Amino acid sequence: MDMNNVKMRYGIVGQDEQLYKALDTAIQIAPTDLTVLIQGESGVGKEVLPRIIHDNSKRRNKRYIAINCGSIPEGTIDSELFGHEKGSFTGAIGEREGYFGAANGGTLFLDEVGELPMSTQARLLRVLETGEYIRVGSSEPRVTDVRIVAATNVNIPNAIREGRFREDLYYRLCTINIKMPPLRERGRDSVLLFKKFALDTAEKYNIPTPLRLTPEAEETITSYKWPGNVRQLKNVAEQMSILCTDRIVTPQVLAQYGVVANLSETTAVACTKQQSAHGTPPRDYENEIKMLASAVLELRHEVSELKSRLQHVSDHEEPSTALVPAQMHGTGLPIITQSLSPDIDMPAAHIPSPQPVKSVHTSLPPEEEDIQTAEEIVEHESLNLIEMEKRLIMKALQRHHFRRKNAADELGISERTLYRKIKDYGIED
Ligand SMILES: Nc1ncnc2c1ncn2[C@@H]1O[C@H](COP(=O)(O)OP(=O)(O)O)[C@@H](O)[C@H]1O
Ligand SMILES: [Mg+2]
Repeated sequence: MDMNNVKMRYGIVGQDEQLYKALDTAIQIAPTDLTVLIQGESGVGKEVLPRIIHDNSKRRNKRYIAINCGSIPEGTIDSELFGHEKGSFTGAIGEREGYFGAANGGTLFLDEVGELPMSTQARLLRVLETGEYIRVGSSEPRVTDVRIVAATNVNIPNAIREGRFREDLYYRLCTINIKMPPLRERGRDSVLLFKKFALDTAEKYNIPTPLRLTPEAEETITSYKWPGNVRQLKNVAEQMSILCTDRIVTPQVLAQYGVVANLSETTAVACTKQQSAHGTPPRDYENEIKMLASAVLELRHEVSELKSRLQHVSDHEEPSTALVPAQMHGTGLPIITQSLSPDIDMPAAHIPSPQPVKSVHTSLPPEEEDIQTAEEIVEHESLNLIEMEKRLIMKALQRHHFRRKNAADELGISERTLYRKIKDYGIED
């Protein structure tokens, strides 16, 4: 597979030389069985590389298993990776194969490998050197043929100095070393990425006018440091694509999302100080905004759907009993309760809870002809945002047959946050 194929197939955007070098190395070493260590800051796009490597290797028809070493509790990580025997510890009711057994013949991606506990590092080194591992509670070595691709955003040489990472394991892991560059070193790639994510979002939600960047805004995006790299940029572009009323993006608009030109260090420092002064944990806050943005957007669709139905009704001059979209029932969302137009009355059975909401006219005056912006809807119709979030979570869970991981992915939040919200809102599986 050549570079352009890979970029297309995996949706990779960018023309930076360092990025190309990383992709190129991945393509070249894919057919070998060499162990690979991918290094790069959080959010730079490391996770696509092990996939490229696996898909272009002779292992492609065997299993690819990705594990985030940082998210598995220390007490169970050995058993998850290497398996355990029945009764080997309290709670070990059955036996467990472990990922090293399950991925036999395939590829194992050990993400955040720098977070592995020291004892697990010893086991990992052994399997890398001999192809043998031992289940927890067993003394019998088992053989496996697994290709390891690992990734880390921590500086491993530092971790070695601080006694948190085995030096021998480091050298064993980085037979092939791939470095993913931070976004701030990729020049205009950030602008290309911004446009891609903004466009993707507009397409996904049927937003008619895509965002346009002024030349000054492009400069701001290029010079901004992007501490959260592509992940942060993606969040910002998605939020703006949904929330910006004005579809022309200027540096002033970007500043509202914390994206400021890096003209001097003082600007950056002042900005960081200002941000930390809010005292809100930035990650969670980001998640809330993202969820609300999606919720607002869904509502916007429903409102426009309602409008077009009303239009349809008025065109045919016959009041329908299906004026309120079915999905708005029983959601706790404010439903339009007033008479919808002078001659169309809502059937009483369709009004679950009376709440004051402005009336919708079947024929709008010219200045209101455009679909309202998300912000206007929120502002004017005093929506119950918590209900919206709850409903959004429910919908995502239903769509994914209550597979939390998939629902969390779709909602753009962590599984942990989703779990917390399910508990908080008392949503039953
Ligand atoms: N060059 C790129 N083109 C398109 N999307 C990208 C690119 N780099 C990263 N992404 C996206 O950015 C997000 C973060 O990337 P990820 O691989 O999870 O980062 P990390 O390095 O922290 O593992 C993902 O949604 C990923 O798809
Ligand atoms: Mg990652």
